[in-house]
Amino acid sequence: MTSKLIPVDEFDYVVFGGTGDLARRKLIPSLFHRCVDGQILGNSRIVGVSRAAMSGEDFRQFASDALDRSIVGNNAKTSDQTSGADDEEYQSRKQEFLKRLHYIQVDVLSDAGWPQLAQLLGNEDRLRAYYLAVGPSLFGAIAERLHSNGLIREHSRLVIEKPIGHDLVSARELNQTVGRYFDENQIYRIDHYLGKETVQNLMALRFANALYEPLWNSAHIDHVQITVAESIGVEGRGGYYDKSGAIRDMVQNHLLQLLCLVAMEPPASNDADSVRDEKLKVLRSLEPITASNVEQLTVRGQYGSGAIHGQPVVGYLDEIEGGESSTESFVAIKAEIANWRWAGVPFYLRTGKRLAEQVSEISIQFKPAPHNIFPEGVAQLKANRLVIRLQPDEGVKQWIMIKDPGPGGMRLRHIALDMSFAEEFEARSIDAYERLLLDVIRGNATLFMRRDEVEAAWKWIDPIISGWEENNQKIHKYTAGTWGPTASIALIERNHRTWHEDVDN
Ligand code: BG6
Repeated sequence: MTSKLIPVDEFDYVVFGGTGDLARRKLIPSLFHRCVDGQILGNSRIVGVSRAAMSGEDFRQFASDALDRSIVGNNAKTSDQTSGADDEEYQSRKQEFLKRLHYIQVDVLSDAGWPQLAQLLGNEDRLRAYYLAVGPSLFGAIAERLHSNGLIREHSRLVIEKPIGHDLVSARELNQTVGRYFDENQIYRIDHYLGKETVQNLMALRFANALYEPLWNSAHIDHVQITVAESIGVEGRGGYYDKSGAIRDMVQNHLLQLLCLVAMEPPASNDADSVRDEKLKVLRSLEPITASNVEQLTVRGQYGSGAIHGQPVVGYLDEIEGGESSTESFVAIKAEIANWRWAGVPFYLRTGKRLAEQVSEISIQFKPAPHNIFPEGVAQLKANRLVIRLQPDEGVKQWIMIKDPGPGGMRLRHIALDMSFAEEFEARSIDAYERLLLDVIRGNATLFMRRDEVEAAWKWIDPIISGWEENNQKIHKYTAGTWGPTASIALIERNHRTWHEDVDN
């Protein structure tokens, strides 16, 4: 079963940092797949921009290698079943795609290259997205030069990614800087978690079904867990990561966005501002965590050496330069939302690197049945749970009690109504960037963060970080390949709850 594909208007995608890691791993392969699937038509162009001295031909070769690596690396299949780098159909589609690629060498900090870029883009006010796949310190300089070279028109859009600041003050500054040249409705702030298939399914589950909404509150839900566990380490990004830590790298954006989608009120419609208004209200309702309660409500951890799936791995300090750091690679937080719907329902968040498995999921734990009519010994009643699995094995599981099939009396069992998307649908699993890149062209900002959301998230995060600093809060060591420090288990078990690691019961 494949979904309906709607072609988009002709556009120019101008990728600053066009020869960088993000372009190679995500942007070029994503645009290729959208092209193969027939969504990118006519004279749409992709323009790579960077400081590197290379010709258009060199850039096409770079893109071609990027595609081969991505196709082979992921063993990905396009919707039309092209299967690998040596596949004839794949090769011919790749050649078609590469014709759309152009390259301009630009030094974003000087005047060099801008006239050539302007000339290539031409005078027409065509749909144009400027994707800044570069460090945030360059956002201002690029926006300013796009402006002074007359490259920002009514139909121009700007795409930026985290880190959008490292605290509230710097996020405001950055937003103000780009806001000088682009209107808010032209700015698309990517959080790639919002482009993940199951994250959107959460919206469908909540707002396309009448079943859950009456139960979606403190009367019926005991607590919520959001886990984003990674088995990878810092992967050569130690320089950036060590200045950020798990709280800035993952919680401020991805985990809080997931929390918002679980907790928000039903928006009036699915349009961008209705959804973002509701998410903002959640962020503003988060109970503050400050120096006075941060030790009870948060746990920081850092991995030592260990083994992942039987393979030995080094500890965090051996992965970063200098070998000394008090940056957390793991964080667990007990968050609460002070509003009528959620008062008294904890939201347990945890994320970390070098954990036992790569798994991201949202687990909604319902309250137990109020009274057990079954005789003792038949079964212990277990409360219902809804698990939304983002990765791997995208899917939704609703845990319920049933009668154990067969004769022999009434025995009960806890089982999952299991909808594994890979089994249910044949379509290729779409990378979040594929969806988000074309949403920019369509002008659909629903899955992008508005300025006030980003700032509200920092407003909640900043006091946690300063609380840690003020209290000199302990950083717990954990062995790579485990589920994090034991203190994070204590954080939830203090309230007689457990992390859902074993999803089979
Ligand atoms: C990024 C973080 O935003 O998300 C990385 O900077 C992290 O540290 C990554 O590894 C996780 O994304 P995904 O899609 O692999 O879960």
